[in-house]
Amino acid sequence: MATADQLLPDVTDGKGSKPQPNRITPGDKQPRAHEIPRVTNWSILPTVAGGAARRMARPGPEGRLLLKHLWIEAKRHSAPNLRNVRVDEISGLKEITVTGGVSRYCHLVLGALAKLLACRTIFEIGTYRGEASWLLAHNIPDVHLWTLDLPDLEAADHMTFELTDRDEYFTHWERGARYAGTPEAARITQLFGDSGTFDFSPYKGKMDLVYIDASHSYSYAKSDTEAALQLLSPGGTVVWDDYTYYPGLFAYLNELAATLEPPIVHILDTRLAVYSRKRWLR
Ligand SMILES: C[S@@+](CC[C@H](N)C(=O)[O-])C[C@H]1O[C@@H](n2cnc3c(N)ncnc32)[C@H](O)[C@@H]1O
Repeated sequence: MATADQLLPDVTDGKGSKPQPNRITPGDKQPRAHEIPRVTNWSILPTVAGGAARRMARPGPEGRLLLKHLWIEAKRHSAPNLRNVRVDEISGLKEITVTGGVSRYCHLVLGALAKLLACRTIFEIGTYRGEASWLLAHNIPDVHLWTLDLPDLEAADHMTFELTDRDEYFTHWERGARYAGTPEAARITQLFGDSGTFDFSPYKGKMDLVYIDASHSYSYAKSDTEAALQLLSPGGTVVWDDYTYYPGLFAYLNELAATLEPPIVHILDTRLAVYSRKRWLR
């Protein structure tokens, strides 16, 4: 069994060694190399562990945030059927550059992936402000993107399945505001409807990428995914956003992953899960 020494990564010399006392005597002109004070993870463990415990014990947003992140990490590393891949395991991604705001890192990875996979037709389920729609259209000059959202605020009262994030997305209406009036808008078609009842048939078999980012309940994850798989072109790809956040989506994708070949993978350090009929991993 591994000892705590082996489990804790070392931030200084990579050997995981415990801190050594600094023995500089008054006669020494300068410390010898092995006497230079070193800080390892062992040195900072009491501060980190104590600080984390205090933060979680104290009521308030900081403690909740820490718990949320711990929970997300626990989920991504315990997922029964989704393999985790690092961004650098995606063949050729290093050479791709994309432009976009840094606040949504996942959008940058999504844009780079869509560019890498040479996607020309994209269907997005869940437009909201159109941040992802704009980024994709902006970075892939020959793409056409169809993006589906509900027709108005009132639609939230008549959903086919379980709606998530009602408080966040249904207080005001600015669907597509990010791309409205930009040159990219000419290559973005806004569609309206509930994805649970929308007629996807005109797009069947035609989409190089389907990006699912609407309601993240189990029931909508299942319904949107079943529609997405129908939309895919022969080398098509499905990307799910928020895989690490929502329990329904997490549960559904882990069920589905057991039945799909090639497998669905999760890109570490993002919220994205990906299924692609193209060869895209090393
Ligand atoms: C997370 S936001 C989308 C963010 C956007 N994809 C982006 O990355 O910029 C979710 C959006 O999905 C929409 N939505 C939720 N359930 C839906 C459904 N069943 N059909 C269509 N749109 C839905 C909401 O109105 C909201 O605008």
